[in-house]
Amino acid sequence: MLPKNVKIVEVGPRDGLQNEKQLISAQDKITLIDKLSDAGLSYIESGSFVSPKWVPQMATSTDVFNGISRHADVTYAALTPNIKGYEAAIAANADEVAIFAAASEGFSQKNINCSIDESIERFAPIITAAKQANIKVRGYVSCVVGCPYDGDIAPEKVAEVAEKLFEMGCYEISLGDTIGVGTAASVQNMLQAVIARVPKQHLAVHFHDTYGQALTNIYTALQNGIAIIDSAVAGLGGCPYAKGASGNVATEDVVYLLNGLSIETGIDLNKLLAAGWYISDILGKAPISKVSNAYRAQNN
Ligand code: HMG
Ligand code: MG
Repeated sequence: MLPKNVKIVEVGPRDGLQNEKQLISAQDKITLIDKLSDAGLSYIESGSFVSPKWVPQMATSTDVFNGISRHADVTYAALTPNIKGYEAAIAANADEVAIFAAASEGFSQKNINCSIDESIERFAPIITAAKQANIKVRGYVSCVVGCPYDGDIAPEKVAEVAEKLFEMGCYEISLGDTIGVGTAASVQNMLQAVIARVPKQHLAVHFHDTYGQALTNIYTALQNGIAIIDSAVAGLGGCPYAKGASGNVATEDVVYLLNGLSIETGIDLNKLLAAGWYISDILGKAPISKVSNAYRAQNN
């Protein structure tokens, strides 16, 4: 049975923009986040506190967090790789933080410059500090189907890393097909392995649309009872450490799918479409969302 409600985790301002070469001003990011809040998104990953040498686009995250008009019912979250990033995120009043591990050693090294085990050690102080401060911690597992460096990833490995993060204290684990190679079959196998070790109400899916399979993979996840979906407005994104990976699945396309299934999201599609065009105009390109382009073609 499909879920009745789905929580969308909007990752456009972070996962989406982090890969854009053109530096976007803090003010434009703030306007985008405010438009997303107004469109009814209840969870917005608004920035990351990582090394600015590694990801220059995120260097303005403190200004972004300080400038947004916060809605009481919206969670504004930040990605944090280590305790230094955690402290900066808390100083900027992030409501929640996310730590990010990988299911492949190759990606872990390229993305955060350490092994999977070392990354878990670096995350431990974040969990301890967050518990004391009553801050929730989300956990990501990247490369849950394939890795640009190590190739196919065994579902058992994904389950092992997801379970570790869950046991450490992450309240939700987002399973990322970072390079978008998954299909309904490989995603089904991976989800079955993870669901055997982490309760599905604590699982989210995070698909990139590199091979055009993201919506099919989301439908597979829904059929498995997963009700938390990460997506990025206008299909923004890619990954700086995964060459050729295209954007996250577009939030507009996910909402259209869910509306068609009568699954509640609380999102106003028209306002969401406007937010997508707002940031796409700044980037000088059309949104990477079929729904967005179809609406515009029909309404012009
Ligand atoms: P490192 O070089 O091994 O770390 O990087 P270090 O501790 O030796 O520090 C090097 C420099 O970075 C030092 O500065 C530190 O102060 C600074 P220097 O002395 O050279 O001037 N530094 C920091 N600065 C700001 N904030 C911090 C911070 N930490 C250290 N938190 C590190 C290790 C983890 C820092 C680095 O590798 C890094 O920042 N990586 C981030 C990579 C990243 O953001 N990737 C994209 C996000 S993951 C993703 O997109 C996938 C996901 O969406 C899921 C999916 O799609 O599947 C989540
Ligand atoms: Mg991602």
